Amino acid sequence: MSDKFNALVVNKQNEEFSVGVKELTIQDLPEGEVLIRVHYSGINYKDSLAAIPNGNIVQEYPFVPGIDLAGVVVSSDDPSFKEGDEVIATSYEIGVSRFGGYSELARIKAEWLVPLPKGLSLKEAMIIGTAGFTAALSVQRLEENNLSPENGKVLITGATGGVGSFAVSILASLGYQVEASTGKESEHDYLRGLGADTIISRDEVYDGKIRVIGKQKWAAAVDPVGGEPLASVLSQIQYGGSVAVSGLTAGTNLPSTVFPFILRGVNLLGIDSVYCPMKTRVKTWERLATDIKPANLEEFVSQEVSLEQLPEVLPTLLKGQVRGRMLVKLV
Ligand SMILES: NC(=O)c1ccc[n+]([C@@H]2O[C@H](COP(=O)([O-])OP(=O)(O)OC[C@H]3O[C@@H](n4cnc5c(N)ncnc54)[C@H](OP(=O)(O)O)[C@@H]3O)[C@@H](O)[C@H]2O)c1
Repeated sequence: MSDKFNALVVNKQNEEFSVGVKELTIQDLPEGEVLIRVHYSGINYKDSLAAIPNGNIVQEYPFVPGIDLAGVVVSSDDPSFKEGDEVIATSYEIGVSRFGGYSELARIKAEWLVPLPKGLSLKEAMIIGTAGFTAALSVQRLEENNLSPENGKVLITGATGGVGSFAVSILASLGYQVEASTGKESEHDYLRGLGADTIISRDEVYDGKIRVIGKQKWAAAVDPVGGEPLASVLSQIQYGGSVAVSGLTAGTNLPSTVFPFILRGVNLLGIDSVYCPMKTRVKTWERLATDIKPANLEEFVSQEVSLEQLPEVLPTLLKGQVRGRMLVKLV
């Protein structure tokens, strides 16, 4: 096997920033027990931030982004994996402080790898990616906090985004009444296709005014948007309900009060996919391959791109205009 391969390299030297495909050698890869031929990756919000000069994601340049990858083991120094095994790797330090998935070859720590569960292809795993995995974690946390379909409507914010799309689909498949909030009027049919019962505009979630306590509209919410809209969501959750927050698309500031918590017993549940323990990771991927696997996975893909197309495509996610998932094909 040649030790040369292509990867997307971002570089910043003397304030000069570049993003482009470059030839690397195996010696350029970080240390790790398992060498993987990457078949697919995906585009997540963090990957787009890694491809802009002030995204505050990349810690050292030159760097290969891509927080998700799925591929086939080429060689392994760890007995848990052998040549030919199909594996998934998402998050930890991948694509943030260690070279990631936008690369024909990747070297990853064995302890970060999830065996591809039966029932999923490598392509399907990367359609799901960190976004779908985070949606699944959010739904699981809501159910662990006593959410069940008879409690009432569940709100999904940022519903056409990666996390939002999967949350709509998973909750609908589990029998929940799903209310999807979106800023994209043109995508209502897409959301109905995923299983949304009702669709509302972003303004109906947050009209620019945060009330201390509002009308009790939703039993729970999956919120990848954060910021001021999250404060508004919290004030409109039913007594004893929960919000699973995973993102910051609308900002990091949360101008809420204690009232939803102390007057209505609302729970704010933090969702982290990055250092999610391996036991939960494996269980969640197994569920994504079986009982909560969306039937229509191809419908989530708005675009399938090559390494060469990434420099042009990566920044589009930051504008909040992308629907569903963008898939990166490497073989
Ligand atoms: N905690 C974790 O482990 C974890 C894991 C994955 C992602 N995340 C975070 O979750 C967030 C979403 O990720 P994603 O992959 O779903 O991103 P995405 O595909 O870009 O989706 C974000 C969606 O939010 C909506 N939106 C955009 N700007 C908005 C604004 N100003 N106000 C309200 N809504 C807005 C848009 O949907 P509509 O047009 O439909 O409203 C957009 O498509 C990001 O902040 C990401 O970093 C966290």
